[in-house]
Amino acid sequence: MIREILQFGDPVLRECCTEVTEFDKELGSLLDDMYETMCHAEGIGLAAPQIGVLKRVVVIDTGSGRIELVNPVITAMWGKQFEPEGCLSLEGKRGVVKRPAHVRVKALNRFGKPVKYRGKELLARAFCHEIDHLNGILYEDKVLEWIEEDEE
Ligand code: NI
Repeated sequence: MIREILQFGDPVLRECCTEVTEFDKELGSLLDDMYETMCHAEGIGLAAPQIGVLKRVVVIDTGSGRIELVNPVITAMWGKQFEPEGCLSLEGKRGVVKRPAHVRVKALNRFGKPVKYRGKELLARAFCHEIDHLNGILYEDKVLEWIEEDEE
């Protein structure tokens, strides 16, 4: 089911999310809805608070498949990159953010089993951006330079 994506200014986006403790059907439905909502909006990542659910749940798909993260933690990061980011909660905006070039993440899957991922370039940015959402941090807080969109 496609859910409504909360937009910048909504106080829910500034809340800190709680850890998931139940790995039940409800969590599976949440993850499915998040993925459907993200794809429909043509995004590459979505965090649960963006649809008003204050749980530590993230979906990402940068083109190489669906990644589901429950209670994700960044375990290592190194290097740096400066690239433009956007966010489904800040439509029509893009800005350059400093992020690590490489990121390692540990999390649980929808069944509560531990999973590990490593990401570089776009995927590293997506991990950082989406995990920030779980702590009420929006990329606009970190933008070094806003990018002017070409007017049509
Ligand atoms: Ni975002």
